[in-house]
Parts: sequence; structure tokens; C-alpha cells
Amino acid sequence: MSLSTPTATHTIRAGAFGNGTHLSCRACGAKSELGPFYACMECFGPLEVGYEFPAITRAQIEAGPKNIWRYQPLLPVPVDVASFPNTEPGYTRLIDAGNLARELGLRKLWVKDDSGNPTHSFKDRVVASALSATRELGMKVFACPSTGNLANAVAAAAARAGIRSVVFIPQDLERPKIITTAVYGGTLVAVEGNYDDVNKLASEIAGEEEGWAFVNVNVRPYYSEGSKTLAFEIAEQLGWRIPQQVVIPVASGSQLTKIDKGFTELGKLGLVDATDYKIYGAQATGCSPIAQAFRDGYDVVKPVKPDTIAKSLAIGNPADGPYVLDVARRTGGVIEDVSDEEVIEGIQLLARTEGIFTETAGGVTVATLKKLIETGQLDPDAETVIINSGDGLKTLDAVADRVGPKVTIPASYDAFVKAGLQ
Ligand SMILES: Cc1ncc(COP(=O)(O)O)c(C=O)c1O
Repeated sequence: MSLSTPTATHTIRAGAFGNGTHLSCRACGAKSELGPFYACMECFGPLEVGYEFPAITRAQIEAGPKNIWRYQPLLPVPVDVASFPNTEPGYTRLIDAGNLARELGLRKLWVKDDSGNPTHSFKDRVVASALSATRELGMKVFACPSTGNLANAVAAAAARAGIRSVVFIPQDLERPKIITTAVYGGTLVAVEGNYDDVNKLASEIAGEEEGWAFVNVNVRPYYSEGSKTLAFEIAEQLGWRIPQQVVIPVASGSQLTKIDKGFTELGKLGLVDATDYKIYGAQATGCSPIAQAFRDGYDVVKPVKPDTIAKSLAIGNPADGPYVLDVARRTGGVIEDVSDEEVIEGIQLLARTEGIFTETAGGVTVATLKKLIETGQLDPDAETVIINSGDGLKTLDAVADRVGPKVTIPASYDAFVKAGLQ
């Protein structure tokens, strides 16, 4: 298998990746040119985009569009990125979660509600930056292996951009996530096996087929940068400040590591004061290889076979696992996990206190926040942000047998009174 999917005839235009200047290996630090590459030629380590940033001001960002492209100078996308059809994600609500804070004994809590994105998860952010790279690299097929939300985002973005999409999912995915992908009209392929099997297949295809952009495989260096916009928005919405603690759901670990990268870049560029922050990761116990490695004090992650209702987080062999451990340990955070029962309670707790219906991944995050406070691992007096990365309407089954009408009554006032509803 080759390390890239070169498109032989395509010339990359100047400025295709904005202020991105190179790819660098996260394992050995070796630098290489920007292109359709994702693994280091020296050590096979994962590549990420490096930049040479000019001076960037808050005013410049604030004058930009009300979506992730306001952060164009900080992303590997060209200055004219907004002129190409895309789903325009981002600029989601940062909610002052006073009710949930009171219930949990926290001084100040915010929910970054990314269910407000076009396909109702944070994946629209990463897909938008991957779509730009796919176009700039002259690749023709927009593809992914997915645990569900990415499938939605890829299929929708491809429809909007008028490009062919092929999405691979585990065959036992939640039905709503299958429907909300298929509806966009691309090719949806159900694969016999779990996500890790699907991911392996995608890597094989990416190595063989020219011009296929698997957003989270061979376009991953560009894709993952999209998650930095969560950090940028949180800081901007707090009045250009970094919060003291952030709790983030973890599957592959891409989102968590890039939120960290986003805060670091803002500090380096002087867009915020480079204050300390702690990054916490949230996993479901039935798929918690990173939390386990964290507890055991390991630097590497031992793959597991997932068994949890939090299917969007069910990645047993997480690509960014070691880097998640690095971030948590460097910032003084923790990677913790919670049971499926706690996940369901977490979904209900957020809904009951803040009127936000999250999916199972959000249930994992809320339940982990609760556990971190109860076990003294998170400071209740420090300002905290949690990420709601997806929408409860896609995982209805998780709560379907827990909620429903209090009572069924005939359509009469008498019956209303008799049922004690006054
Ligand atoms: C709703 C939701 N939250 C969080 C994640 C975790 O993302 P990552 O793989 O970047 O850790 C996913 C991944 O699919 C997801 O769908």
C-alpha cells in the first residue's frame, strides 16, 4: 500500500492551503511538502499541517463570515474558500449552563452546542476543511469510514459541492444515522464488521484507488484541522479568553488534540492571553482504550473490541490515542470513562436541566463531567466548557424506553382533573 493517493495530472495552485506551509510528522518531527500525504516517509507517523502565520488580529476575524471561514487564516484553506459551495458550519451556540452547573456543584459551566451544525454534529467542521483540501488536491471522490456522524457530514457536503461521495459504515449503525446519510443521495456502503474493520478497508482502498479522498484517512491532516475552530469559537465567544477546563468526547481523539492545538495557536498569535487550561477526555467504558491507558500510565493504547451504546465513539483502535494521552497529561487533565447506564442518565440530565437533547456521545461527556466532579478530578470552582458534539434525534433508541407520556387520558376536562394534572 502506498502512503498517498497522488493525482498524477493535478497541479496544486499557490495559496491552496492558506498559511499552511508544510506537513510535519507528529512522531519524529520530519517536515514534508503539502500534498495528498498522511504518513511520514521516515517513520510512518501521522502528519499534521504546519504554518507560518502572518500577524492576525481579532478585528480581522470578527469581520469575517458567521461560520468557520472567519478563521481562514488559521486553517489550511485558501483565502477564497468561502466562494466554493460548502455547508458553512460553525458559529454554534455557547450556552451558559447555569442549571446544570447548580445541579453538579460547578461555579461556571458552558455547553458548546455543536448539534447546531448543518448535519447536527461537529463533523461538519472537519468535513468542510477536508472538502477544501480534496478540491485543491484535485481528488474526485469524497469518501470516509464512519461511526455515523461523519457519514452524514460527508454525504451532505458532497451533495452541496456536486462531487461523488462514497461512505462506508458498520452494518449495525443506528437506523437514524443510516437514513440521514442515505437521503443525500451518495453511495452508502454497509460493511460487515465494526468501525475498525471499516477503517481498515478504507485505508486499503485509499492506497489503491487514485483520487479517492477518504477525509479521515488520507486527507486526515487537513480534515482534523477543522476541529481547531471549536477552540477558536469558544475563545472568541468567551470574549477572547481560554476557559480553565474543557471536557471533550473521544473516539479517534482527533477533536481533542485539535482543540488543544487551537488554544495553543491563539495564545502564540497573541489573540488571547496564553493562560493555562486542562483538557479532559470522555469515553464510554465499553470502548475506553485511551482512558484505560491513561489510568495504567501507558504512552500507547491497546486496541479493544467496542461494546457500547455510544456507537459514535466506538473506535477500538484510536488513531490519535497516544496524542490524547500527551495532551491530557501535559495540561493536567484526565481521560475518564462511564457506563452505558451513566450515558443514558447523562443524556437525560442535560435535557432536563438545559433543554438540550444530545446524542450518546454527549451523554458520555455529561456523565464524565459528573464523575470527574464526584471523584475530585475536576475543579468545581474553575470555569468549565463541555462539548455537545451531536444531536439526540440521531440516537433516539438510547432513551426510547426511559421517556414517554406521563399518562394517557380521554379528551375531556374531567379526565384531566381525575388524572391529577391541575
Ligand atoms: C458526536 C461525536 N462526538 C465525538 C466524536 C469523536 O471524534 P474524534 O474521532 O475526533 O475523537 C465523534 C466521532 O465520530 C462523534 O460522532
